[in-house]
Amino acid sequence: MPSHPAQPMTRKILVTSALPYANGSIHLGHLVEYVQTDIWVRFQKMRGHECYYVCADDTHGTPVMLRAEQEGIAPEKLIARMQQEHLRDFTDFHIAFDNYYSTNSEENRELSQDIYRRLRQRCLIEVRPIEQFYDPVKQMFLPDRYIKGECPRCHAPDQYGDACERCGATYDPTELINPVSAISGAAPVRRQSEHHFFKLSQCRDFLLDWVRHERSRGAPLQDEAHNKLEEWFDAGLRDWDISRDAPYFGFEIPDAPGKFLYVWLDAPVGYMASFRNLCDRNGLDFDEFWAQDSTTELYHFIGKDILYFHALFWPATLHFSGYRTPDRIFVHGFLTVDGQKMSKSRGTFITARSFLNHIDPEYLRYYLAAKLNERIEDLDLNFDDFTARVNSDLVGKYINIASRTAGFISDRFGGTLAARPDADGAALLARMQGAADDIARAYEERRYGEAVRTIMELADQANAYINDRQPWRLVKDPASLEHAQEVCSAGINAFRLLTLYLKPILPRMAAAVEEFLAIPPLAWRDAAELLTGHTIKAYTHLAKRVERAQIDALIGENRAQLPAKEGAPHSETRHGAAQQHDNPPAVETISIEDFTRIDLRIAKVLAAEDVEGADKLLRLTLDIGDGETRQVFAGIKGKYTAADLIGRHTVVVANLAPRKMRFGVSEGMVLAAGPGGKDLWLIQPDSGAQAGMRVK
Ligand code: MSP
Ligand code: ZN
Repeated sequence: MPSHPAQPMTRKILVTSALPYANGSIHLGHLVEYVQTDIWVRFQKMRGHECYYVCADDTHGTPVMLRAEQEGIAPEKLIARMQQEHLRDFTDFHIAFDNYYSTNSEENRELSQDIYRRLRQRCLIEVRPIEQFYDPVKQMFLPDRYIKGECPRCHAPDQYGDACERCGATYDPTELINPVSAISGAAPVRRQSEHHFFKLSQCRDFLLDWVRHERSRGAPLQDEAHNKLEEWFDAGLRDWDISRDAPYFGFEIPDAPGKFLYVWLDAPVGYMASFRNLCDRNGLDFDEFWAQDSTTELYHFIGKDILYFHALFWPATLHFSGYRTPDRIFVHGFLTVDGQKMSKSRGTFITARSFLNHIDPEYLRYYLAAKLNERIEDLDLNFDDFTARVNSDLVGKYINIASRTAGFISDRFGGTLAARPDADGAALLARMQGAADDIARAYEERRYGEAVRTIMELADQANAYINDRQPWRLVKDPASLEHAQEVCSAGINAFRLLTLYLKPILPRMAAAVEEFLAIPPLAWRDAAELLTGHTIKAYTHLAKRVERAQIDALIGENRAQLPAKEGAPHSETRHGAAQQHDNPPAVETISIEDFTRIDLRIAKVLAAEDVEGADKLLRLTLDIGDGETRQVFAGIKGKYTAADLIGRHTVVVANLAPRKMRFGVSEGMVLAAGPGGKDLWLIQPDSGAQAGMRVK
């Protein structure tokens, strides 16, 4: 048995959640992690420990670079906007970071480049040429996800460069049949370039020791994660390619012009950078937390998809650059909605913001807490279950205790609680106080579901006590009035204890209760006390039931968001779409790369004429720029005559495969909106747009 040193009175703890990517919105899947971490941190703070929770946006890499380019703005501008959006979402879900920073910061640049230098000094960096696909049009090396082609195994078309979605095969992008760049559509060429590798293969002994070593604070990984690592050790650790060639949005590699640190190198360093920024602002000692001999505690909460980065690359990077390693990595599973992977077309890919538009965020916190445990299991958000739990537990059990007793205290006893509870009330409260340690242990060990179950059992006992004593009858007889006050006071005390136990999960509710009870913020040790002879404020109702209509509206909003592509710059357009109920069912969301594969251009109608034998068609001759003309047949004659169109500008899909029709070949498609016939409107750009301009 390893010896467990006595726990210091006040622990010093640094906690992180994974840094969300700056190229997408926060959704309910993310919240599994941030809510889980926030509950743990709030619990530690209530226990009186010195605990810091830092996070940041993960800003670097190709997707952010390309999206900014697509929006025609600098990446710095894009990430500033996303950081604000993310922080607002988190704040509204009561996620209380001590610092929410950005990986694109000076602190992170210094730390990341310095870590690179230290690894190089230890001879853990190797530079060697590799061959990769290069986009000759876009003039950049292509990450695997930006190459598409035919699967070499099952021949499914249009598969990504690393894996086939149809047959599940994984392969090298160079194995794809007829590969194309998803950025420009060009055929990629092979090209050599020097890359910097972190020699993970040489970190094996250290990592084995780190993973297998039972530390004073326990094993660093849950069993399931540990097993995964053992598999990876057996398979052999491969050196890690940590460089990317320009153009790349990231930090330059010291002494290597045109080479950048791969985003996954500087992202976890972002944990340190965010903390360093907090230290500089609050006078904390950075080294006390990060030096190799640190005695403080360090924990990372992450999802199971990024275990490799956090349990292999990260500890190795830290150790060999002279820093301490994490004490534990807490891995969680993935969120499913109504038993299935979150899906945009089903409306279950739910953004944090849309949830806030319809439902109290604390209800989600409560529901997630009720389902979370210390293991790496996926967790399902079932909306019927969600509704039932919120309504029966929070409203029906917990809030009910206050709403059945507070009124009598205000109306009949001037708001003042009795000097003591009656005998049964005292026994109930003693039992409730006695549960404090068990509940604390459950929180500490991340068995939140168990904590919630224990708390709700106590709520059941409190309700049973009130049912038995029937204060509403006791108040009717002057002889039992004093007893009524004692019973209601016991009820209020039970409510106070439940509030304390639920406070890590329901911080806003707890604040409202503290206000109602006229007490200072509840800390964990306050469970040892009771409120007696104290005057409380008038009760106003604290929580409403969730109605099915709210959930339907939430799902509806997320389904309606579909027409906007993932990279939609502003959510306003999405809300606009949400109000149109008669839109055709939307198709699956596409990526920005998918969108850029469509060559949309401004076209000028040079000529238009009727087509013999086709009463809906017009034959258009379009100028599409660079002196090129196209013949396009358009089914718009129900609305437009040939004369209406000549000289007008519109938008054409210029890279649509030519289609042979009875009257000739159609070499493109003009864009119009509406169901057809007379209800049809040709798209027209603002005046000034010239034929040949790309629409993007
Ligand atoms: N940027 C990286 C993390 C870098 S940490 C140095 C990343 N970002 S992410 O936005 O994709 O995910 C952030 C966290 O949310 C990850 O821990 C991820 O596992 C978690 N989740 C994202 N979708 C999730 C679900 N559907 N369910 C549960 N957690 C999920 O990865
Ligand atoms: Zn395949």
